Amino acid sequence: MKYGYFDDSLREYVITRPDTPLPWINYLGCQAYFGIISNTAGGYSFYRDARLRRITRYRYNNAPYDFGGRYIYLRDDTSGEFWSPSWQPTRRKLENYSCRHGMGYTIIGSKYQGIEASTRYFVPLDENLEIWQTTVTNHRPQAAELSVFSLIEFCLWDAQDDSTNFQRNFSIGEVEVEDRVIYHKTEYRERRDHFAFFACSEKTAGFDTQRDAFLGAYRGWDNPAAVERGQSGNSVAHGWAPIGSHHVKLSLKPSESRQIVFVLGYQENPRDRKFDPLDSQILNKKTAKEVIAKYLVPAKADAAFEKLRRYWEELLGLCQVDTPDVHTNRMVNIWNAYQCMATFNMSRSASFYESGIGRGLGFRDSNQDLLGFVHMVPGRARERILDLAATQLPTGGAYHQYQPLTKRGNNDVGSGFNDDPHWLILGVSAYIKETGVWSILDERVPYDNAPGSETPLYEHLQRSFRYTLDRLGPHGLPLIGRADWNDCLNLNCFSDSPGQSFQTTTNKDGKVAESVFIAALFVHAGRELAQIASRRGLPGECSSYLAEVSKMDATIRKQGWDGEWFIRAYDDFGRKVGSKECAEGKIFIETQGYCTLAGVGIDDGMAARALESTRKLLATKHGIVLQQPAYSKYYLELGEISSYPPGYKENAGIFCHNNPWVIIGETRVGNGDAAHDYYTRINPSAREEISDVHRCEPYVYAQMIAGRDAPTHGEAKNSWLTGTAAWNYFAITQWILGIRTDFDGLRIAPVIPGSWSGFKATRKFRGTTYQIEVQRAGPGNQVSLEVNGSSVPGNLVPLPPAGAKTVAVKATLR
Ligand code: BGC
Ligand code: NOJ
Repeated sequence: MKYGYFDDSLREYVITRPDTPLPWINYLGCQAYFGIISNTAGGYSFYRDARLRRITRYRYNNAPYDFGGRYIYLRDDTSGEFWSPSWQPTRRKLENYSCRHGMGYTIIGSKYQGIEASTRYFVPLDENLEIWQTTVTNHRPQAAELSVFSLIEFCLWDAQDDSTNFQRNFSIGEVEVEDRVIYHKTEYRERRDHFAFFACSEKTAGFDTQRDAFLGAYRGWDNPAAVERGQSGNSVAHGWAPIGSHHVKLSLKPSESRQIVFVLGYQENPRDRKFDPLDSQILNKKTAKEVIAKYLVPAKADAAFEKLRRYWEELLGLCQVDTPDVHTNRMVNIWNAYQCMATFNMSRSASFYESGIGRGLGFRDSNQDLLGFVHMVPGRARERILDLAATQLPTGGAYHQYQPLTKRGNNDVGSGFNDDPHWLILGVSAYIKETGVWSILDERVPYDNAPGSETPLYEHLQRSFRYTLDRLGPHGLPLIGRADWNDCLNLNCFSDSPGQSFQTTTNKDGKVAESVFIAALFVHAGRELAQIASRRGLPGECSSYLAEVSKMDATIRKQGWDGEWFIRAYDDFGRKVGSKECAEGKIFIETQGYCTLAGVGIDDGMAARALESTRKLLATKHGIVLQQPAYSKYYLELGEISSYPPGYKENAGIFCHNNPWVIIGETRVGNGDAAHDYYTRINPSAREEISDVHRCEPYVYAQMIAGRDAPTHGEAKNSWLTGTAAWNYFAITQWILGIRTDFDGLRIAPVIPGSWSGFKATRKFRGTTYQIEVQRAGPGNQVSLEVNGSSVPGNLVPLPPAGAKTVAVKATLR
């Protein structure tokens, strides 16, 4: 069953009924000001940091799930009836409801008793504000007297404190209202130099800024007293809960349409000019007034929207494909690339499942996210890499995350994840492969942000590699530390106290438990580093890396092979994890995927066997589960993985992030049918028809789909902010379609399904547009290349002469 449809020509998903199984959301903003918006206008906004600069308040895990947001109320002043065109919060029976989620904007509208109303929400480029354009049209045969109320609830900036420290917070709220603009200035009197504003283009009949005055006693957002009586109270908040609500009266003749523009924004003042007059406590509004005046003009708002549209057209235009599969096209051309930008901006911090206060930008996560966005925003990818590297520790290890506002690493979600350092190598190599800009390696970057500790970025990579060699265990495999990619495989934790954090508790010294996964990652990252070293003119270093890599490769095949698949780890007792010898958790996806992706066992058939075992034991129609059999009880020596009920999350859920590792593995053994089949199983667009089972948005990946051991097999959770976005984008574009960036140019090495006669693609790469046409002339993956009409040996397209605008590439598969 579906709840809407894809409008590919407009790059929108159109939701046609408001009661989606879960809120289906979108992101507004792509630079510094961000918002999350659901299909019923729920959500919130923040400036740069979802925790430290939260502009509007949102209550997670509410009932109903999504309640509170950017609301508009309409009231028929003749009958007294009122409703919300976005359905929530009043939930009337609307006609023609639709929510169009597009690239950086959302349009929600409906019709009720002959009155049509629709609001377009977006954040203009280069501004710290959001625009709501509300258009109201009277389709009645007679004139309509209407009231329009806007509504947002301000957050007192620090979202964590805002939701806990009530004894203070109920006394600090402050606002000012001037010329139809509501200014929120809590804590501005002391150390904050920033404030928020909420403006309205039309003459107002009133306003409210005190929540309880607007709502009335014992009422919720669905039934505000001010809306019911048709008159704002002109309340001025002192303490309690500041809100912003304008009241506009509209008289509409039959067929008449009017637009009201609302602008909600964030503004900082220079510290020495905070107040006006200077010796007063009155907000200096000069800087804000200009920008407010500009965007309250509908034509200016339209122009800003057009600019945003062009921005996305250009970004997405960098890689466009035309394959025989609509789901592949739609995800690659629109939604998967778009989701990669969301993970770039948010990492794992703010979604409807990530509260914005728990996790900042993850070291491991952000480096992997680079794989999906580096081609779209290479300049910002470079900045991201340098920020991440600056949180690396002198040992080569890393803080697991940092807060975007401070850019300082912290241990809030634990430390000592021994896989972390290698993702930096992969992030940097992805950047160089895309851009050809080697100078990034010479950037001087500190460790732990300590001034004076700077070394060239290249040395950070050397230390990353070394980090593992300094931490090998009894089998010669890397020690796992707190955990590797799988945060929940906690082999040194041994936690027996309720509520103790699996992320920060360690009760063993960690000299025994080893990770086969990190070994595979080491092989992969080590090969990349070797190539970098060789191109940096360091042949000796290159061969020493390769020597370590082949040693590790041999160790994996000796100590990490279980007969039919790769073992996952050794625990603190030196016992195998993910082996036929185990009672539960006999086979794990991570090592089947990552070993084959890294090329371990391709020549001797181990890779093919591991993939065969994956298909037999882990693959389901909804995707590949993380391990089998699921852990049926808690294992002290395994940690959080066994804390989840079977089939959820890391305990045998379909953890979508690692499915593409298997997909890439399948391409490495030449199996395009299997690769694309797995790709399709978790492709959200291909799952649109089963939206009632899948439940999350059909246009973006979710972190998890419940595995076969769960009663809700097939149900997705934690949509949007997941490494799944980048890895699937990488797998489909670079490995299945095979348009692969490499240090010396673009490779064309497709491993597509046998039934495809070929495909076309346009890929902008280092300033040149590659027009690619792939044709199948035989059943295999052997490529013959023709570049600008001349045949070229191998699969690497030689770099065109500087200034070349386009290159025509024809690849024939045999
Ligand atoms: C989740 C993991 C996540 C970790 C983050 C765990 O509870 O299961 O998926 O990576 O928390 O800290
Ligand atoms: C989500 C985390 O963000 C990521 O870092 C981790 O690799 C996966 N969960 C698996 O545990």
